[in-house]
Amino acid sequence: MTYRSQRVAWWYFLAALLLFALQVGFGFVALAKYLGPDPLRDVLNFATTKAIHTNLLLVWTLTGFMGATYWIVPEESRREIHSERLAVAQLLAWLAIGVITIVGYLFGWTAGRKLLEMPFPLKLGVVVVMLLFLYNVGMTIWRARRVTTTEGVLIGGLAAAALLFLPGLVDFDNYTLDRFYRWWVVHLWVEGVWELILGGILAYLLIRLSGADREVLEKWLYVIVGLTFLSGILGTGHHYYWIGVPPYWLWVGGVFSALEPLAFLAMAMYAYMIIRRSGLAHPNGLALHWTIGATVFSALGAGILGLAHTWPQVNQWTHGTHVTTMHGHMAFFGAYAMINLAIITFAVPALTGRREEETQSALGLASFWLMVGGMFGMTMALAAAGITQTYLERIMGVGYLETQQKIQVHYLMWLATGSVFACGVAAYVWDFVRHGPPLAVPATSAAETQRAPGGLASESTA
Ligand code: HEM
Ligand code: HEM
Ligand SMILES: [Fe+2]
Repeated sequence: MTYRSQRVAWWYFLAALLLFALQVGFGFVALAKYLGPDPLRDVLNFATTKAIHTNLLLVWTLTGFMGATYWIVPEESRREIHSERLAVAQLLAWLAIGVITIVGYLFGWTAGRKLLEMPFPLKLGVVVVMLLFLYNVGMTIWRARRVTTTEGVLIGGLAAAALLFLPGLVDFDNYTLDRFYRWWVVHLWVEGVWELILGGILAYLLIRLSGADREVLEKWLYVIVGLTFLSGILGTGHHYYWIGVPPYWLWVGGVFSALEPLAFLAMAMYAYMIIRRSGLAHPNGLALHWTIGATVFSALGAGILGLAHTWPQVNQWTHGTHVTTMHGHMAFFGAYAMINLAIITFAVPALTGRREEETQSALGLASFWLMVGGMFGMTMALAAAGITQTYLERIMGVGYLETQQKIQVHYLMWLATGSVFACGVAAYVWDFVRHGPPLAVPATSAAETQRAPGGLASESTA
């Protein structure tokens, strides 16, 4: 930790990880509905549990991104955060909105729009919190009079994500219009501006972990941003196939979304080449695992498994089956959960005053392999469930409930592999909290110098 105010990131990371654990807990409650008999059947319906599961996912990944920004910006701009107090107040307001949202869902207070279920007044609260966040980060950079490409892409992605939340505030009575604009938020987030957040954090991590030349890395970042927008904007059309828009969207959506994997493959290649050139020498090997893991899993989950059902000719059969669930899980985990876990693993030793190599604990490595293995298994179980469901229900015309009975074995596999994943989450959270809260002040300069090779102290001159 080079700047005192960076410590606020630890609280964001703690909140993100606790919400992650809760999200996974609700995943099991949602899965219980498919497995039955469900003890909570009369208390919590499927729509509510799924909304809580997916909303917690959005909230914790965004909380992590904000923590990552408060960690990265002081180092990149070489200045303390404009107001540490504001950053804390912002976190408390954000969490308060989150709690009201979840409790509200339990009592049926929902806007009922998949992934944007938050009622209107709470959405306004989100806008206010995002503005506070962008103000605090913007003032830090403004006062420092220094902005790097890496942090520019990161903050550009966050600001664009806030802007793209606005179409989610408008409700339409017309179903087609409602779907049309809902995807401006959901699709243009995960296959557009969130990719910039991913790219920015990835570039920061690769620069720090490999000591590679910043200029080379940042040129790659432009290529990734270009590929993202080239394919992602019109790629939104892959959600328009069956909602009642003109048929040209079949071609536009198909062709452009088929190009989307390029940005994810470019990120994986970029990470591979950089690490290959610099070797695996960085003492924080665990952060390296998570960083490379994020690029591989997002290329597989978003790129390959997205491509698998993005053509209208395929999607007409698979739309809304567990093929979508399979892709959604691996893509979200690979791209946005793993990059969060990577930056947390990277920042925590400096935040808590430990040496980087101490993070290579057996527990930390176990949590990595349990999560990666568990998610891989879940993806396989969901692929089997999804393909069988598509074949029986959509092609053979077997009824929904009869099909559900036939795929029970895959749900059991989901339960087993999900449990492996959950053990990984528990190990990660424990590994994080057991070292206690962040240092009150940055470690002494002597300690920082000791940590310099590839570490943080060397970077103030980067
Ligand atoms: C490990 C335990 C987990 C279990 C048991 C679980 C279970 C579930 C269930 C039952 C659903 C509803 C599926 C449906 O609509 O038919 C769901 C949806 C979803 N989950 Fe999970 N989940 C887990 C972990 C995760 C993780 C780690 C992530 C991401 C990081 C995630 C992201 C999602 C997303 C994005 C959806 C919505 C997918 C869609 O609408 O097709 N889940 N999950
Ligand atoms: C990190 C990036 C990505 C994430 C987090 C992600 C996540 C998701 C989620 C959660 C859904 C379900 C949404 C809903 O039904 O409300 C979905 C649907 C879909 N995704 Fe992705 N995705 C990503 C990238 C991609 C890419 C690159 C492609 C294509 C190459 C793709 C193709 C699709 C398609 C075609 C659907 C619609 C499935 C259906 O018709 O049911 N996705 N994605
Ligand atoms: Fe999409």
